[in-house]
Amino acid sequence: MSVEVPVGLTDLLKGYTLEVLKQRPADLLEFAVQYFTCLREQRSSTRSCSRSPVTRAVAFDQDSAQTDSGDEDEEEDDDFPEDFTFKPPPPSKNNRRVSVCAEAYNPDEDEDDASDSRVVHPKTDQQRHRLQEACKDILLFKTLEQDQFNEVLDSMFEVLVKPQECIINQGDDGDNFYVIERGVYDIVIQKDGVSRCVGHYDNKGSFGELALMYNTPRAATIMSTQEGALWALDRATFHRLIVKNNAKKRKMYESFIESVPLLKSLQLSERMKIVDVLGMKSFKNGDQIIRQGDEADCFYIVESGEVKIMMRSKTRAGQRSNEEVEIARCTRGQYFGELALVTNKPRAASVYASGETRCLVIDVQAFERLLGSCKEILQRNISHYEHQLVALFGSSDDLKH
Ligand code: CMP
Ligand code: CMP
Repeated sequence: MSVEVPVGLTDLLKGYTLEVLKQRPADLLEFAVQYFTCLREQRSSTRSCSRSPVTRAVAFDQDSAQTDSGDEDEEEDDDFPEDFTFKPPPPSKNNRRVSVCAEAYNPDEDEDDASDSRVVHPKTDQQRHRLQEACKDILLFKTLEQDQFNEVLDSMFEVLVKPQECIINQGDDGDNFYVIERGVYDIVIQKDGVSRCVGHYDNKGSFGELALMYNTPRAATIMSTQEGALWALDRATFHRLIVKNNAKKRKMYESFIESVPLLKSLQLSERMKIVDVLGMKSFKNGDQIIRQGDEADCFYIVESGEVKIMMRSKTRAGQRSNEEVEIARCTRGQYFGELALVTNKPRAASVYASGETRCLVIDVQAFERLLGSCKEILQRNISHYEHQLVALFGSSDDLKH
């Protein structure tokens, strides 16, 4: 039995679907009501539909909702107002938890800004110094303005940790974001009734951002394995400074991230989650970004400038020569530093900035969580390294530490 698809249905659904992908609403049904009501109002009058303050204004691209069948186009145009712009009202504040982890955020109507409830936890000079040391490489803080960063430091408070203490419990609501000063912490995820340790933090890094960024339950349990110390940032301040900054980051990096070939296969929401957690680092000509043989903790994408990949090859006696040989260069949109994360081995080569260079940086936990589906492409490119090394050094032993 053949069923005729009514003229206009495809465009109607395509438009709605596109808008869902762009806006990531928490409630699809509620969003559908708003979307189609707005569409109907625009069709029946040339006036734009009345809107409440916007979460993120996105102009609907009509061209992308056209079908290929030329005949239907004209009729469908009649149903679909030209220049249709849909701006949904802000999400309900009561509806905190959303299952899709990419809640849009409106920096212009921040509840926390209104009350401007700045929290300051006084610190001794020595505490402030320890806090600054712990925070200096935290990626989420890397794109903050200096005064915002100072505000973050003012708001943080020290948490001393005993061995086997549960800092975060999977499934709980998020209260704080934590930066590690010292201590080792296991990351445990329970799935289908089975708990599995998926990694650990070793005396550096941060955790607890996801539940605060996306209003979701805690995604993992974080357990100390020894005595330690953390610095905590409360939920309201995290929202006011970090989440607000993420809205800017999304605008800033959205188009660049979409152009990175490695990330093409990811969905838009997945790419936005990468933007939310990435940091940006600038390097001067000759700065060493990665040292061959070091332990790895992050992954890089070149945003501007160029990097040189240099390797100390092995002599016939199996000794590592001191002389470095250039083996590759990476420019805008290309990545490096994935090999050690994928193979769990030390860095296979050193990387230097060639001229002023800016890189986007993703930590190992986010790399594993968000780039899992790119592993096939990464693996394929890793096999190119072996060929490259055979061509240069006669063997690819340098990749086997
Ligand atoms: P959150 O969900 O707020 O609380 C648990 C934290 O564990 C989470 O934020 C991340 O910071 C951290 N984490 C580390 N690895 C993972 C992982 N693979 N999946 C989810 N959370 C992780
Ligand atoms: P990693 O080993 O983490 O750090 C050094 C990086 O240099 C490595 O990841 C790759 O991203 C990059 N690289 C580029 N070409 C090669 C190559 N032929 N062999 C090894 N690493 C390479």
